[in-house]
Amino acid sequence: MTVEEEIGALKRKLGALILAHNYTRPEVQDLADFVGDSLELSRKAAECRAPVIVFCGVRFMAETAKILSPDSIVLHPNPHAGCPMADMASPEAVAEYRAKHPDTLVVAYVNTTAATKTEVDICCTSGNAEKLIAGLPADRKILFLPDANLGANLNDKLGRKMALWPGCCPTHNKILPEHIAAAKEQHPGALVIVHPECTPAVVALADQALSTGGMLKFVRESEKKEFIIGTECGILYRMRKENPEKAFYPLEPAVLCPNMKKTTPEDVLFSLRDLAPRIELDEAMRKRAKAPIDRMLAVLP
Ligand code: 13P
Ligand code: SF4
Repeated sequence: MTVEEEIGALKRKLGALILAHNYTRPEVQDLADFVGDSLELSRKAAECRAPVIVFCGVRFMAETAKILSPDSIVLHPNPHAGCPMADMASPEAVAEYRAKHPDTLVVAYVNTTAATKTEVDICCTSGNAEKLIAGLPADRKILFLPDANLGANLNDKLGRKMALWPGCCPTHNKILPEHIAAAKEQHPGALVIVHPECTPAVVALADQALSTGGMLKFVRESEKKEFIIGTECGILYRMRKENPEKAFYPLEPAVLCPNMKKTTPEDVLFSLRDLAPRIELDEAMRKRAKAPIDRMLAVLP
């Protein structure tokens, strides 16, 4: 049996559901029952009721699946796949900020650890941040964490003055305005789409700044035929597969998140065989971490 066939057989036996983020390796995306962005994957985890969820992506995403689906065994096939940005806001540092600024509402990007989520008021993802923050009272003091780029882009777009935590995505932060300019010169007819984790200088040069799910919807619905893609290169696989008649150009140098590439089909197979490594969360902590995600889903179901 091939690795893929063994995975299929184990999946059927266990009633397992394989979820994968849009940045994972093509061969992992091909194994998955559902491929999506952070928000879509959270929703899937919350509604699926599968006895076993195999989460191919970075740890905070697998933790979110466990927070929302506590009765499922949540497998994280490669436990070394973390998100460096999520680790830039520790629960202790956030608690210290709150103690000093008790009247500030703390909004956390979903790219935070479960432990940090216990210290925040409400979560958002890049797919719903704009709507969610636009709905908050204009005079309310807000801290946005951990991504200062996403926060600054939201401030620019919405005319807000949220305080920004000094974190960033090392992958998107490396994209420079000159990389966009070079791609535009090479492909003058293409639309530029970037992720809002890019710096404001990069977003200013783009036609659209969208979540990975938003990008896929945009290119599907657009009349245009050519797109320059300013985000992790894994998304190009799905874009090309779903839109064979359109052209998608990556930036140079390639935009790569090493952590999203860690999970392999072999990791998925071993995790299903061993039912490990699992995401385990202390129940009291899980409930506290769920509150800001529930608030997000209640505002924008
Ligand atoms: P999306 O929610 O847009 O998929 O983004 C997740 C992420 O980690 C981007 O770097
Ligand atoms: Fe984290 Fe950036 Fe990788 Fe997304 S691309 S998982 S934010 S390090």
